[in-house]
Amino acid sequence: MKQLFFMAFVTSIIVAACKTKKSTTTSADNINYDAQLTGIKDKFPDATIEELKTGNAVYSGACTRCHGKKDVTKYTDEKLIQVIENMSKKAKITEQEKQSLIKFAYGVRAVSASK
Ligand code: HEC
Repeated sequence: MKQLFFMAFVTSIIVAACKTKKSTTTSADNINYDAQLTGIKDKFPDATIEELKTGNAVYSGACTRCHGKKDVTKYTDEKLIQVIENMSKKAKITEQEKQSLIKFAYGVRAVSASK
């Protein structure tokens, strides 16, 4: 009988663990890095998924210290770069983080434009 309780306990932990994992992967804005990479490959042929992930981390981290996540899809290319240059100074991110952020922003735009 004890064993049965133990099994039920273990099963409930496994179920809970799977549920948690599922919700974290679906709640992350449903970012499709593969689609982003395809969308920006003309502009950034060397971009990697790692860079896009770094860009997203900066965008959701350092860039939200003063305001929420700003919409990066509504600007022209020049204006977007200009805003990112300005904001990167405010956010005190590294050159590399800025480059990743630019790729991520273009990725977000590419994917939203193709919808
Ligand atoms: C030190 C504070 C601070 C940080 C950090 C910061 N911002 Fe801003 N940001 C502002 C302020 C202030 C404004 C102007 C007021 C507003 O639109 O909320 C602004 C405005 C913006 C706008 C709108 C600009 C426009 O002209 O339409 C965008 C887009 C933006 N930020 C993106 C970013 C991104 C991307 C990052 C990360 C690199 C970032 N911000 C980090 C303070 C900050």
